[in-house]
Amino acid sequence: MSLVFAINGQRFELALSSVDPSTTLLEFLRYQSPFKSVKLSCGEGGCGACVVLLSRYDPVLQNVEDFTVSSCLTLLCSINHCSITTSEGLGNSREGFHTIHNRLSGFHASQCGFCTPGMSVSLFSALLDSSSSEFTVLEAEKAVSGNLCRCTGYRPIVDACKSFAADVDIEDLGFNSFCKNSLPPFDSEKRVCSFPEFLKDEMKSIDSGMHRWCSPGSVEELQRLLQGARKANSVGLSVKLVAGNTSTGYYKDERDRHYDKYVDITRIREMKEIRETQNGVEIGAVVTISKVIAALKEIRVEKMFGKLAAHMEKIAARFIRNFGSIGGNLVMAQRKQFPSDMATILLAAGASVNIMSLSRGLEKVTLEQFLQGPPLEDYYDLVLTIEIPFWHHRSSELLFETYRAAPRPNGSALAYLNAAFLAQVKDRMVINCRLAFGAYGTKHAIRCKEVEEFLSGKLITDNVLSEAITLLGKSVVPQEGTSNLAYRSSLAPGFLFNFFHSLIITEKPSSNGYYHLDQPKPLPMLSSSQHVPINDEYFPVGEPVTKSGASLQASGEAVYVDDIPAPANCLYGAFIYSTKPYAKVKGISFKENSVVPDGVLAVISYKDVPKGGQNIGLKFSFGTEPLFAEDFTLHVGQCIALVVADTQRHADTAANLALVEYETEDLEPPILSVEDAVKKSSLFEIYPFLYPQQVGDTSKGMSEADHRIISSEIRLGSQYFFYMETQTALAVPDEDSSIVVYSSCQTPQYVHSSVAACLGIPENKVRIITRRVGGGFGGKAVKAMPVATACAVAANKLQRPVRTYVNRKTDMIMTGGRHPMKITYSVGFKSTGKITALELEILIDAGATLGLSMLIPSNIIGALKKYNWGALSFDFKLCKTNLLSKAIMRAPGDVQGTYIAEAIIENVASSLSLEADTIRKINLHTYDSLALFYKDGAGEPHEYTLSSMWDKLGVSSNFEERVSIVREFNESNIWRKRGISRVPIIYPVSMFATPGRVSVLSDGTVVVEVGGIELGQGLWTKVKQMAGYALGLLQCDGTEELVDKIRVVQSDTLSMVQGNFTGGSTTSEGSCAAVRLCCETLVKRLKPLIEKSGGPISWNNLISQAYAQSVNLSASDLYTPEETPTQYLNYGVAVSEVEIDLVTGQTTVLQTDILYDSGKSLNPAVDLGQIEGAFVQGLGFFMLEEYIKDSEGLLLTDSTWTYKIPTVDTIPRQFNVEILNSGHHEKRVLSSKASGEPPLLLAA
Ligand SMILES: Cc1cc2nc3c(=O)[nH]c(=O)nc-3n(C[C@H](O)[C@H](O)[C@H](O)COP(=O)(O)OP(=O)(O)OC[C@H]3O[C@@H](n4cnc5c(N)ncnc54)[C@H](O)[C@@H]3O)c2cc1C
Ligand code: FES
Ligand code: FES
Repeated sequence: MSLVFAINGQRFELALSSVDPSTTLLEFLRYQSPFKSVKLSCGEGGCGACVVLLSRYDPVLQNVEDFTVSSCLTLLCSINHCSITTSEGLGNSREGFHTIHNRLSGFHASQCGFCTPGMSVSLFSALLDSSSSEFTVLEAEKAVSGNLCRCTGYRPIVDACKSFAADVDIEDLGFNSFCKNSLPPFDSEKRVCSFPEFLKDEMKSIDSGMHRWCSPGSVEELQRLLQGARKANSVGLSVKLVAGNTSTGYYKDERDRHYDKYVDITRIREMKEIRETQNGVEIGAVVTISKVIAALKEIRVEKMFGKLAAHMEKIAARFIRNFGSIGGNLVMAQRKQFPSDMATILLAAGASVNIMSLSRGLEKVTLEQFLQGPPLEDYYDLVLTIEIPFWHHRSSELLFETYRAAPRPNGSALAYLNAAFLAQVKDRMVINCRLAFGAYGTKHAIRCKEVEEFLSGKLITDNVLSEAITLLGKSVVPQEGTSNLAYRSSLAPGFLFNFFHSLIITEKPSSNGYYHLDQPKPLPMLSSSQHVPINDEYFPVGEPVTKSGASLQASGEAVYVDDIPAPANCLYGAFIYSTKPYAKVKGISFKENSVVPDGVLAVISYKDVPKGGQNIGLKFSFGTEPLFAEDFTLHVGQCIALVVADTQRHADTAANLALVEYETEDLEPPILSVEDAVKKSSLFEIYPFLYPQQVGDTSKGMSEADHRIISSEIRLGSQYFFYMETQTALAVPDEDSSIVVYSSCQTPQYVHSSVAACLGIPENKVRIITRRVGGGFGGKAVKAMPVATACAVAANKLQRPVRTYVNRKTDMIMTGGRHPMKITYSVGFKSTGKITALELEILIDAGATLGLSMLIPSNIIGALKKYNWGALSFDFKLCKTNLLSKAIMRAPGDVQGTYIAEAIIENVASSLSLEADTIRKINLHTYDSLALFYKDGAGEPHEYTLSSMWDKLGVSSNFEERVSIVREFNESNIWRKRGISRVPIIYPVSMFATPGRVSVLSDGTVVVEVGGIELGQGLWTKVKQMAGYALGLLQCDGTEELVDKIRVVQSDTLSMVQGNFTGGSTTSEGSCAAVRLCCETLVKRLKPLIEKSGGPISWNNLISQAYAQSVNLSASDLYTPEETPTQYLNYGVAVSEVEIDLVTGQTTVLQTDILYDSGKSLNPAVDLGQIEGAFVQGLGFFMLEEYIKDSEGLLLTDSTWTYKIPTVDTIPRQFNVEILNSGHHEKRVLSSKASGEPPLLLAA
């Protein structure tokens, strides 16, 4: 018996007996097939990186059904006789890219590229879905709504999707800012063949009960199977019923559980049908949520069904709804208390459930009884169908609404609370009602019977509703320990009020529209504008050249570290980390009675560091840090050991089963707060040269003030990087005790020294190779070093290649993020709002080890000095705690600095009852005060563009007028409020040394190596442009097209020494400067040949002659910033307008306008992408991403379920960006400025 399927048209046949039924489709694709275009990012259905198109043929209807699924949750055995199309199957570099790839690339919609294959497939599927009708802008916006991207800020991705819509105005798309050419054409008729003919002839079922995987076709057959299993159960046989298997995204332990048998119930006829009956609709339990939605939308006579369908569209993402079943959802809710939406809305709708129980036979129960009953017995009880009754034919008027409050308005996030209400009403009197609430931290969805009874038979008056709300407060009570407890409880009355308010017979007519409550509105459509200057002075520098390799990234062919084929004998590692902040480690074992996978080979700890080496995981300018905990753990999340096994799955399973024995007796209690650290004087030293400098005399400033705010406090939390590619490395032992490590890092030079120091081998025996990184944001600077080093230690010990691809949860727990801090400030100011002095005390939580935390104080002050505070003094304490060591995340310290400044401004404004904008304006720097605060970094007066930008954006965003509109809006709306604010930023950056090498090959093509790493920030693209420009100065025929002949290659620490690190926003500039130096050398060497030739000469000819004459055509150089001021300032201004729904707390960024000074942009398309992406990452920090730890510091929000980065539906609905061309700056790299980090601050 075999499993037959196709991937990208290629046939695969596997003997069923040889397949472990718990193997996911993703595991097969990535580890056993040549198609690696599918990426793994979360492994729990929450990101869309792994999305593929699944196509199924129906031999009866003779049609092919195509839909997306998340391959990380879909079991391989489920795809028998199906065809899978990955992004590479849509198109590729060999056979030509698909239009989707070309458009994503043309719209500059791929940065690190790790999300792009998933985006491509999601878009492709949305286009297929609409092939019978027309693809609309609305559908385009939803096409990728469940896919996460951490780099782009989504705007260009949405534009690329919209470009396919029939109703789009092409002129409105961002593409037009750059490309006046036509769009890459799309021929919808020329379909990618998603289902190959040969598979149609092989449609047989695999229903034999002989295998671990079986797939019965009828209830009868299933019953026989289960009865057999039941008999065998006496000898401990375990069976798992499988529908879509998406529940394993939430219940991850399920994946590691061993089952003797997997019963696929999706082919059971009776369970996959949808029947309309006289009284309602009966839906088979294995019908997918997507199909339920489609069916409910069809039954138009019952209006309630449309509302149920609309609510279901907010369950998970489309690629989960396409495979996850209605029955599976209800079983999760029933058996495991899953915070289901389905259960709540069907409860209000009066649904019932048909169950087939091996012990009780067939039975029909109400959904309420079902939910309240004892948990369904594993595979003894089967949900067959769900019935939803019709209500429309009853004599009274029917009101029905559903509600949910969640971090993301359009789904892909569990609700804080969901609700659904049904009321039968006659002459405004409630005859009866069903009020269901769920997901708020309760066992299962409940009906509020008390309130229902109270309201039945009543007219709704203010008092009645108020009493109902009081009663409700006693029923909807989250269980102790539920997150956001108060918020969740507060939602229930709001929803009830919303539902009944239209029936209110008011006793006290209100003049201010108190009862006027708008129904929840769909989000406004996304819209945007981009204004970018294009400079042709240094052509092709300044052109919006498409990102290097963007199409390869879209098709999924771009190779990241985990895509490198595993060398023979390769082993896989998974980290065991500490769960105690400060404890003695007594030993490591595996949990009792656990089944440790066979393939586990070793548990590598500090004892395995070779003789001569040291237990070093990280070696950087500020010192070294240990790789493995030795006798004591210093913080939660500290690396204790690396389990090594034959597969990544086995290593991960074993690491989950590891049990570390701790002892805390007689130990000092751990330091878990900055206050405690200060009390115990547990502080890191800040080198004096890194300590920022005070400005003026604050005592004098305070004495000049008319008002003072004393000792006000601000607290700021952390933020996780959420790069889509988690930490990963592959270490391969080589001859003569040398080692090659492929590392996804921003710091190859330092990974290199860390590995050498740890192994105790000379640096010339280590080689670190980094081609591209799937997002870094600072997280792959110091934090990538121990990952690579641990693999190296294991590889050295076992003398076999060892790789690791850290799973999302471990990555979140071990890598951490931004520095949290506590700020206490006193500020003095005049009655006009002019600030005269600011004093700050800032306690920074650096964690247990120093890392790069010493840079944080100066970064905070660098950004905070954006206002003229009169005089400024501060006291920093870098607190050493027993918490995870913090890393430098994009705009580290700077974003906090700018936020602190704004919080102070807001405080001053409110204490004077003045507009914050007035206070901002009055305290903006003049050039003189700028020079006082920033010294040399301030540059020349003409370089200070901020105050004119402030005015310019005020005009272009219509700021003053919109302030009045917001004021009017707030006066006339009780339940929704708006705010608008304009924020300036100043962001100092420093240049640092970086190397480059340019080599010309005999056919005239050029290879460039640089120290900087391509993280998605467009470094390679800018470098290519710079090489094109600098070699183009030779002005021979063909140099205009030179940029197409240039290839930037991977960083290799033995080839490019002193590579330094990629960070601080200036690596692209530095790498460009290095390349320019190399090109200048080559130009010098080639010029004499041109002069000798006496006439025009083509590039290829010139190179042939140079080869013939042995001219050295490889030049390397190290750019050092001594040639320029090492620091300069970046400026930007943003206006954001936000609306808050006071009933649900939902916040919508209605509009953001940004003006950013990019100098003479090296590539305005790349810079625009950096600006938008950074801003949205900032929005995440300030508005969405909750970094919550338990009392010992262990991260609780450790998955895509709980940690919510922005999605398409949370970005500004109107997003306008203008890049300012601030003219010539002689000493900067072709007058350019940085764009990577500063714009993040604009989200403050
Ligand atoms: C990323 C993500 C986000 C989500 N967000 C939401 C959300 O916001 N709101 C919401 O309500 N839901 C949400 N879900 C849950 C989703 O709806 C369920 O995972 C899905 O419906 C389960 O169906 P399945 O077919 O995959 O079930 P499976 O995973 O196959 O099965 C689930 C469990 O039920 C058992 N089982 C399945 N079918 C039957 C049956 N007919 N009889 C008896 N036992 C059965 C299985 O043995 C298993 O134990 C989300 C899921 C994911 C992965
Ligand atoms: S990796 Fe599958 S959804 Fe994230
Ligand atoms: S481009 Fe989307 S995650 Fe990097």
